[in-house]
Amino acid sequence: MEFGSVLFDAFMAPLERAGLALRRRDLVQRASGRVLEIGVGSGANLAFFRRTGIRSYTGLDLEIGGRTGRRIRQRFPDAQLVVASVEELPFPEASFDTVVFTLVFCSVDDPEKGLAEVRRVLAPGGTVLFLEHVAPLHRPWRPLFDAATPAWRRMAGGCRLNRETVATLKRAGFLVEVRERFNGVFVSGVAACCADTA
Ligand SMILES: C[S@@+](CC[C@H](N)C(=O)[O-])C[C@H]1O[C@@H](n2cnc3c(N)ncnc32)[C@H](O)[C@@H]1O
Repeated sequence: MEFGSVLFDAFMAPLERAGLALRRRDLVQRASGRVLEIGVGSGANLAFFRRTGIRSYTGLDLEIGGRTGRRIRQRFPDAQLVVASVEELPFPEASFDTVVFTLVFCSVDDPEKGLAEVRRVLAPGGTVLFLEHVAPLHRPWRPLFDAATPAWRRMAGGCRLNRETVATLKRAGFLVEVRERFNGVFVSGVAACCADTA
């Protein structure tokens, strides 16, 4: 896991330099209150959270290695580290004011179930901050991404190249504001709960 986390950072470094890190910063600095980060990975977002306005930070992933754990504790000494799937969040309803996920829902086996759980644990008036890679925005590329997905999924820890996460968020009842689409496959935005309870 430690090796995987180092490898992931090395793989991502050119993308981070090319603008992904700036997008992370713009997104996660909006987090406030009780914050849940889903799929913390190697902790690439940690440096960008503001210290003020965050009452608590909970980092969740299927696995949390020592390197990531140390990074989290450096940033948030009182952080809660939780090993679980977003598909079955071990928290009561309305536990968090902000839920953050970046580059996660490409890998979640059941995104509908995961987003229903996000909705359940989000407090009324809470905010979801997301940055995901999705099916290509330029539709003619779509068949290529569909064809490449099975092989990529095996090589890249279950990652799919053809997810429609914005549409899935909307189907889960979120009111979605897409803030940016970039590099053809990335989308970032803010979502609030909920279209059917507004
Ligand atoms: C590509 S990494 C992204 C890590 C980090 N969020 C980032 O932006 O660099 C995807 C992360 O999502 C996690 N993940 C995948 N499926 C998950 C699930 N069902 N529940 C929670 N985390 C999950 C993986 O373990 C991995 O750490």
